[in-house]
Amino acid sequence: MTFEKNILCIGAGYVGGPTMAVLARKCPLYRVTVVDIDPVRIAAWNSDELPIYEPDLKEIVRATRGKNLFFSNDIPGGIRDNDIIFVSVNTPTKTFGVGAGMAADLQYWEKTARQILQHSRSSKIVIEKSTLPVKTAQAMENILQCTNSSISFDVLSNPEFLAEGTAVKDLENPDRILIGSRETESGLKARETIEDIYANWVPREKIIKSNIWSSELSKIVSNAFLAQRISSVNAISALCEKTDADIIEVAKAVGMDSRIGPKFLNASVGFGGSCFRKDILNLVYLCRHYGLSEVADYWEGVVKINQYQQERFLLNMMTAMFNTLTDKKICLYGFSFKANTGDTRQSPAIFIAGRLLEEKAEVIITDPRALSNARSDLAGMEGRISFVEDPYAAAHGCHAIAVLTEWDIYRRLDFRKIFDGMIKPASIFDGRNILDHRQCFEIGFNVYPIGKPPLTHF
Ligand SMILES: NC(=O)c1ccc[n+]([C@@H]2O[C@H](COP(=O)([O-])OP(=O)(O)OC[C@H]3O[C@@H](n4cnc5c(N)ncnc54)[C@H](O)[C@@H]3O)[C@@H](O)[C@H]2O)c1
Repeated sequence: MTFEKNILCIGAGYVGGPTMAVLARKCPLYRVTVVDIDPVRIAAWNSDELPIYEPDLKEIVRATRGKNLFFSNDIPGGIRDNDIIFVSVNTPTKTFGVGAGMAADLQYWEKTARQILQHSRSSKIVIEKSTLPVKTAQAMENILQCTNSSISFDVLSNPEFLAEGTAVKDLENPDRILIGSRETESGLKARETIEDIYANWVPREKIIKSNIWSSELSKIVSNAFLAQRISSVNAISALCEKTDADIIEVAKAVGMDSRIGPKFLNASVGFGGSCFRKDILNLVYLCRHYGLSEVADYWEGVVKINQYQQERFLLNMMTAMFNTLTDKKICLYGFSFKANTGDTRQSPAIFIAGRLLEEKAEVIITDPRALSNARSDLAGMEGRISFVEDPYAAAHGCHAIAVLTEWDIYRRLDFRKIFDGMIKPASIFDGRNILDHRQCFEIGFNVYPIGKPPLTHF
């Protein structure tokens, strides 16, 4: 079969895999190939056990794989055979040298650019899907245009706004698609080509176009705004706990203002995930680089509040449990950074588990999807840790439960049965405010929500 278009994606991670699976599903006349340097990941994409969990993803991959969706390790071949190349390699925070702990580590990105240059035999459109510091496209262009070849490259920015846990839904029905390009003749033509791909399933009015720098910056700013809302509500949750106000009531009243809106106003143990922290730190680094220290300080506050909230949660546990956690058995309900994903990158659970172990507590972890990631996150940490699939068995014999992920299953558990199996006094620290606190209290638990007065039997 000849396909209308041949599309390559470099990077088969949380973004590349689902994005290309949905693209292949929506565009049966396009051939979509996803390549990665990691052979284990590619083997998993070609198996029944996909490397990541997302609702509905397996069904889409099953329906398209081998027909118009292909996963491969042949990066040179992929570059040669495709003229439209999405790049969704990882851009983590730099851990060494200049900008360590703040700037984006662009080594994977640059290596990809060099690979594209080396293996291209025809002109290409190269699309940044990864989240990148503003002006990265310039560096990409400089690398791609450093030889005198007749091959030309158009570099576009098309950041991905999917949220893990709802990736398929977000990809199928995005709020918007953003495509940034150079405003040259060939840049605008390349932009049209990418717009036509999305127009297969996204209404044209949702496809917005901009200059390339606005596009790069918009992605980082979107994440910064989302994280800022979480830190704002979490900051107020601390004040609520001091004043007997209830953060759920406050957030509802505030969120009903149509200028503010109700989303992303749930107080919690803090945000996690691979993006928010890294993208804000990157923004902070950029601002400092351009001499905007007040702007940098402002955004850095979002990350600081997030750290504060996690530490505060741990200190609240300590205080409630008579100022010692030594030899106490604490069960963590949830380890992924949010519900409906197995992803644990930057999950508050990693921090909380580590701090509990420092306090010499015994930690029992349960999670419906994230136990294998939890095992590798905590490998090497000293102390007593166990991983138990069944939430009832996990809490049995424990002094306390800390709810760290808002998995729906936790709302529906039989807390009477759980209470009966626990050491008394039994406590629940609801780091996501998802449980029926009054009911848990009436069963006999001491209940410590976030940003609300605790319900205790003392
Ligand atoms: N995870 C999210 O929710 C999300 C959402 C929007 C945007 N983003 C951004 O998308 C980018 C990718 O994120 P992710 O979560 O998919 O990362 P990831 O770590 O899950 O996947 C990145 C993949 O790229 C591969 N890779 C690295 N260098 C390569 C190379 N030279 N050639 C081929 N493959 C290479 C890695 O092996 C890995 O499988 C990041 O910039 C991230 O900020 C992520």
